[in-house]
Amino acid sequence: MACYPRIWRLGIAVLALLAAPVGVFGQRGEHDFNRDWRFARGEQPGTVREAMFDDSGWEAVRLPHDWAIAGPFDASLPGGTGKLPWRGVGWYRKTFDLDAASAGDRVYFDFDGVMAFPKVYVNGQLAGEWDYGYISFRVDATPYVKFGEPNVIAVAVDTREHGSRWYPGAGIYRKVRMAVTAPVHIDHWGTFVTTPNVTDRRATVRVRTSVRNHTDAGTDVEAAVVVRDPGGRRVVSAAKSHSLPGGATAELDQQMFVANPKRWDIGKPVLYTVETTLRAGGEVVGRDETTFGFRTFRFDANEGFFLNGRRVQLKGVNLHHDHGPLGGVFNLSAMKRQLEIMRDMGVNALRTSHNPPAPEVLDLCDRMGIFVWDEAFDKWNATADNVGGPEAIKAHAGRQIGNLVKRDRNHPSVFVWSIGNEIRNSPDNKGDGKSFDRLESMRKSVLRHDTTRPVAIGCHIPETVEHPIYEPLDMTGWNYTRRYARIREMYPEKPILYSESASTVSTRGYYVLPLASSKTDYPGDELYVSSYDLSAVPWADIPDVEFDLMERDPFVGGEFVWTGFDYLGEPTPFIREARSSYFGIVDLAGIPKDRYYLYRSYWRPEETTVHILPHWNWTERVGKTVPVFVYTNGDSAELFLNGESLGLRRKGEVPPKPENLARGKAVTASSAMEGSANAVDGDGSSAWTADAAGAGQWLEVDLGGEHPVRSVSVTPAEGARLAGYRVQVSIDGTSWESAAETIPPAGSRAMMRRRGPTEDVHHMEARARYARVEFTQVEKGAIAGISELGVYAAAYEPEYYDVTYKYRLRWNDVVYEPGQLKAVAYKDGEKIGAATVQTAGAPARVRLTPERTQLAADGEDLAYILVEALDANGTLCPLADNIIRFEVDGPAQIAAVGSGDPMSLAPYQADNRELFFGKAMLILRSVEGEPGTIRIRAHSVGVESAEAAISSVR
Ligand code: GAL
Repeated sequence: MACYPRIWRLGIAVLALLAAPVGVFGQRGEHDFNRDWRFARGEQPGTVREAMFDDSGWEAVRLPHDWAIAGPFDASLPGGTGKLPWRGVGWYRKTFDLDAASAGDRVYFDFDGVMAFPKVYVNGQLAGEWDYGYISFRVDATPYVKFGEPNVIAVAVDTREHGSRWYPGAGIYRKVRMAVTAPVHIDHWGTFVTTPNVTDRRATVRVRTSVRNHTDAGTDVEAAVVVRDPGGRRVVSAAKSHSLPGGATAELDQQMFVANPKRWDIGKPVLYTVETTLRAGGEVVGRDETTFGFRTFRFDANEGFFLNGRRVQLKGVNLHHDHGPLGGVFNLSAMKRQLEIMRDMGVNALRTSHNPPAPEVLDLCDRMGIFVWDEAFDKWNATADNVGGPEAIKAHAGRQIGNLVKRDRNHPSVFVWSIGNEIRNSPDNKGDGKSFDRLESMRKSVLRHDTTRPVAIGCHIPETVEHPIYEPLDMTGWNYTRRYARIREMYPEKPILYSESASTVSTRGYYVLPLASSKTDYPGDELYVSSYDLSAVPWADIPDVEFDLMERDPFVGGEFVWTGFDYLGEPTPFIREARSSYFGIVDLAGIPKDRYYLYRSYWRPEETTVHILPHWNWTERVGKTVPVFVYTNGDSAELFLNGESLGLRRKGEVPPKPENLARGKAVTASSAMEGSANAVDGDGSSAWTADAAGAGQWLEVDLGGEHPVRSVSVTPAEGARLAGYRVQVSIDGTSWESAAETIPPAGSRAMMRRRGPTEDVHHMEARARYARVEFTQVEKGAIAGISELGVYAAAYEPEYYDVTYKYRLRWNDVVYEPGQLKAVAYKDGEKIGAATVQTAGAPARVRLTPERTQLAADGEDLAYILVEALDANGTLCPLADNIIRFEVDGPAQIAAVGSGDPMSLAPYQADNRELFFGKAMLILRSVEGEPGTIRIRAHSVGVESAEAAISSVR
């Protein structure tokens, strides 16, 4: 496969920035059209489209804008979409003038994304509409505009029919441009640059320029093309003429050769530029600038992914489109920050789940050397804004895919077109599911505009490969638990990517002991998930399992972790109660969780990472054990508590498992006695299953003698759906001690627990000869059964976690005493670094740490300022929950505050925030045209305030 270019700014690259309340637009080119809009929520009278409508009482807004992020949160709204008021109708209006001298020119509005179903009125008339909230579209306003007079654009937005599995945001949440062109012009997204042949000595550059003639008369047009190298030097040029009839469109196709091309590569993203000058009748009528890159890549069904001739492991993340506390609004500096944090962790690929991103995301990835799996849809129903039913899918998808591919095909970062995520099967073409015909027609929609990248899909049900529906696709992506194995058997020639891996859940700063007894045990009384990184959702895994899988399956090009950052909505496992996800490697406020260092340690073996967890403030556990994990790129580390060595640990050393005292012992059961021995035979594939469904069934083992019992492990039978069971132990077989009871409360936790089989471990301090498991709640119609029962005299950890010893260093039995815990890491015997945690006293002062010291005074640039509580010695207080108030002096506004607490319903737009496990984030936005010093003060009752200053420059 060859390499591919990208458009920098489509249409004409002259950008006019107008700050006046009513802009006068005339000059041909692209104009920023985001200032001075008015917004109102709710239905409006019919006159809202007309120029004379009085919108003076409406809110003044600058786009991009998300009307729902200001809240308020509503606890009764679904957690799945963020408990924010995004559903409804909103209107935007803006008045603008067009220069009389421009009469006869064409006027277009280019929207990068409107959520959802926008209708665009110009001077009272419907000029255009669009039916997918996540893709860019153009509205031709030429027939409706007036030159030399005021004009009004009104945009109706309606999210009521939009379906979503996460927070979608609401409104004109991406940028808008106005393009003024000559009647003969380069078409929208009309420059297409490819590099059909690339060698080290020479590369071919092919430039196709689509030219449109809106006049009735024929004209001679010429597209003159100059290729420039990264330093701006002219490398090669060409020109092509064509006689274009009135009302026609033509493509001018030309090829050039570039000697010794420098490659675009991961981490070394060399970008060239194509400049196109369009002449009509000998006169220059337009210019266009497109950046592109030279790179070759291919996906191989047996060997994975190759870039510029070498195998590259894709270390990817999925990202949703929101920016946490900023909402659905696209913001360049927030996005850049996200990608920088991801890149620092080792990321070299991004999946834009599950929709096309803002176009600037691709500009950033081009410049940062990050590959992009560019995805069209989640499902093919209302989440894709396909509300027309099965019949409408083809037309709907064709339109959206057309815009996606034309918009994004010049970006060297884009390497896969994905036509959807987790679409169910519908081999008969009924419903909105996958069929051979649909996949083929969607692929053809892509190929119509680009044939240089594979067309793929993200899948989740392995059985779907039994129908020959995947044949039309070049490649498939699979979500979770090695589900890709099945397609490899059926289609051994089709390359595979792991489109979603992990789906680990955790809450920054929150640790619960004892450790999770299984990946779907979410210990603790609060609706948070322990940050020991041992918890995942039932259908997925912890990071280590995936690292191991990628090492064993090199035919997979690489993984895309679900997800890089937390996002608004989908707060599994507390889907009803919480409002933002637990999946992120970085929390919603943009603060890395422990997992960030686990990924970094593995994905960047050459960079030093030494990270220690948990915090060291466990007053209630003095004399008791607190497990300590170290994430490092080293191969070993030595741990010291208050200067005393707790030993050196090496990666790959799994502690021996205690003997299972129940193995092969005598078993009795409430029913199905013949099969009861299966529960203690050490073979997980055989099980005891009770004859009768429902509660009351039990199984008992006689250990043959009295033993100390520290752990009992229960692995439910495949298909068993256990809502609750009791583990009991006894010395004499008549009087029973209840050792553990698993009765999940009603609600989302119960939902998560019911899915077997996972090995559940219960810890206790007992002596016993008999152990018994009794089912107290069994789902209606479901079976009760056990595939393996384990009874141990020493603490037992499920086998599932053995793989963690390959990637983490673990000291499971550190006896807690306050003070300093220090890890010194080694690689090949050499010390590479150290990390410490320290017991903190009470919060004594606030600390502000701005990530940037200088902002651009453009009204968009953001400064993220980390807010923390420290004790009198300057040690971070890991449990602090002080409320911090902010005062900002100078040319900046508070864009948002956040803390990464998925349960908090406190507003993001506020001048205060409660610390969440010692930390919060303050996000400031510069003020347009107002440079100067910005002073920030942070106060909290009873502690010393903090101050910081940054500057904003023109
Ligand atoms: C996947 C799905 C994602 C997200 C994820 C959570 O199946 O594609 O959108 O829901 O599960 O684990």
